[in-house]
Amino acid sequence: MVLRARIAGCGAYLPAQRLSNDELAALHGLDTSDAWIRERTGIGFRHMAAPGETASEMGAAAAREALAHAGAQASEVDAILVATSTPDSAFPATAVRIQAQLGVTRGFAFDMAAACTGFVYALGVADSLIRSGAARCVLVIGTEVFSRILDWTDRGTCVLFGDGAGAVLLRAEPGAGTTADRGILSCHLHADGRHGDILHIEGGAGSTGGAGLLRMAGKEVFRHAVTKLAAVVDEALAANGMTHADINWLVPHQANARIIEAMGRKLNLPRERVVMTVERHANTSAASIPLALCEARRDGRIADGDLVVMEAIGGGLTWGAAIARF
Ligand code: COA
Repeated sequence: MVLRARIAGCGAYLPAQRLSNDELAALHGLDTSDAWIRERTGIGFRHMAAPGETASEMGAAAAREALAHAGAQASEVDAILVATSTPDSAFPATAVRIQAQLGVTRGFAFDMAAACTGFVYALGVADSLIRSGAARCVLVIGTEVFSRILDWTDRGTCVLFGDGAGAVLLRAEPGAGTTADRGILSCHLHADGRHGDILHIEGGAGSTGGAGLLRMAGKEVFRHAVTKLAAVVDEALAANGMTHADINWLVPHQANARIIEAMGRKLNLPRERVVMTVERHANTSAASIPLALCEARRDGRIADGDLVVMEAIGGGLTWGAAIARF
């Protein structure tokens, strides 16, 4: 008998303000167009946090929905893992802010910084905590307010990102140790710090300088994305003795429609088996996978028994994939 981390519930939160490409351009006086942004990225809209709205408030809203979806009480939660690059503050962790907002008074809570790969990293750590018996009921949350770290004079980056939060509740359940088990089957995490500067935040807490804004070498990131994501998904499938044909759903990090479509083609998946929210949400970094997962699970696309592959790449460079059966 093995312990499996079953995805028992999921939740989402998007801030009320929603801006089209044209509205964003007008708001910030950007020399860009809806056609350019859509053609290069597939992005049409993004949500923006209200002034004063924090990553912890958004994460707590998503977490409450995940608890309700799972039919769980906050008092059952014994670990909260938050993936974010835009925490309320360097410390205390956004995870403990969320813990307090949920009224959880037991267990432990901490943040993880792996940029856009943060949710996959957090799933991997949560899975290990559950398999080892260190935790039985774990909230994994991705929450981001990238609108606060964007350089609104850099049209090459500021049009790409949005704000939001997504959460899953993981519950320990006994499994047979086969790939027919429900829950997370495996997670595969990678980092290569030699490429740290191609996507980074210049400055911030503890830094010797910089305004705390996002910088990106877009073409470099794109080049790494397609090769590394394909490799890590193949690694994850091989670890489970599976092939592309076993995948029911791809739920990728939502950075760019061209990267997502290239991945779908590499995996021989028809378009309708790839969950896409990038047109409506833009890139919400660590929140993008749980937002997409939640949408497809709650609208009935992802059914019990389905095999779901999640993959992401982000600043670090970090990248990874997770395979789960619902
Ligand atoms: N609107 C109009 N023109 C723009 C623009 C915008 N928002 N942003 C950049 N441009 C211009 C550039 O100034 C450049 O003009 P020039 O040729 O006159 O110098 C031209 O478009 C091409 O710029 P470039 O940066 O080479 O574009 P690109 O084809 O590489 O596309 C990205 C830019 C960002 C869309 C693309 O590199 C990409 O998607 N990269 C991956 C990014 C990503 O996914 N990051 C997150 C990973 S977690």
